[in-house]
Amino acid sequence: MPSIKINGISAIQSNPSNTILETIENAGMEPEYNCRDGHCGACRCKLVSGEVEYVGFAMAYTQADEILPCICKAKSDVVLDDVNYSLKEKRA
Ligand code: FES
Repeated sequence: MPSIKINGISAIQSNPSNTILETIENAGMEPEYNCRDGHCGACRCKLVSGEVEYVGFAMAYTQADEILPCICKAKSDVVLDDVNYSLKEKRA
């Protein structure tokens, strides 16, 4: 399974059947998103290295080095930067 490194601090294993956004969520983080469909750009982040595969049509504007994790899957080990997320609050 490809690994996804986020903001240089956490590395998670990606499940090939999930988008990168879902993978980040499954790892216990709450990434920023809105449409989950490639429209809004809320999930936009930088692809530092690695290859991703788009599984949807990107309508939101991205720079050449940016991706939309809500409609991308990891094709190789991937390094992402500028991912906006918070950690899920632990509930007792
Ligand atoms: S959540 Fe809207 S483009 Fe990814």
